[in-house]
Amino acid sequence: MNRLDNRAYYDDFAGWYERERHLPYHRMLDDLEVGLVERYGRDRDLLEVGCGTGLLLDRTRRFARRAAGIDLSGGMLAQAAARGLAVAQASATDLPIATASVDVAYSFKVLAHIPDITGALAEMARVVRPGGWVLAEFYNARSLRRLVKAVKRPTAVSDQTHDEHVYTRYDDARAIRGYLPPELEWVATRGIRVITPVAKVLELPVVGAAIRWAEHRLADLPGARDVGGFLVACCRRR
Ligand SMILES: C[S@@+](CC[C@H](N)C(=O)[O-])C[C@H]1O[C@@H](n2cnc3c(N)ncnc32)[C@H](O)[C@@H]1O
Repeated sequence: MNRLDNRAYYDDFAGWYERERHLPYHRMLDDLEVGLVERYGRDRDLLEVGCGTGLLLDRTRRFARRAAGIDLSGGMLAQAAARGLAVAQASATDLPIATASVDVAYSFKVLAHIPDITGALAEMARVVRPGGWVLAEFYNARSLRRLVKAVKRPTAVSDQTHDEHVYTRYDDARAIRGYLPPELEWVATRGIRVITPVAKVLELPVVGAAIRWAEHRLADLPGARDVGGFLVACCRRR
């Protein structure tokens, strides 16, 4: 099957993107991501790279001093703008943001779909003030999620597109370290979706609640966090 360019894929995806976001699996990912941004970004100036429809930005702006987002897809951004969010259309590899102008630049579920990953990380580092933070989420090559993805059929995103239609990269910690520009120091890690085998288990009564509880505890636990399906590198700007 043909691989669509990222913008066309996400413009198509925009009509469906929030269809399942209320389900326990997506809520858990969102909570763990927003919680991490709050740890570094309360009362600070934030930039979300690849903000999509603005679901996360709409939450982070509530504890930030200022919060803005950029995204490649006009379809996604139309929904973010309808939420009253400060957003602009741009590529992560060419941010229309002044150098050293925000305290935290964060990106979730985006960087794994960008071929020029070193370019995107260099841009995030550029816009952050010295002493500020880049929170960069990758898809972990050494995780249960990766294993399940390898054996499972591609997920249908809409009638036209499947998740195999978009460029996707899985990285281990060593590869991630190699992508970081010298001005970023990798200080902490959050591992998201450490033990959840498939999203549906979180919908089970009792078992789902127990797994969610465990995921919140494992996310920052050395050893466990390193095998999270999503690895967030928390990097200080030197
Ligand atoms: C899976 S969505 C994640 C949206 C949001 N971060 C969230 O967690 O809800 C991925 C987003 O990344 C955007 N994206 C993909 N490649 C991009 C690029 N090179 N520059 C900016 N945004 C990009 C897509 O348009 C899409 O909105």
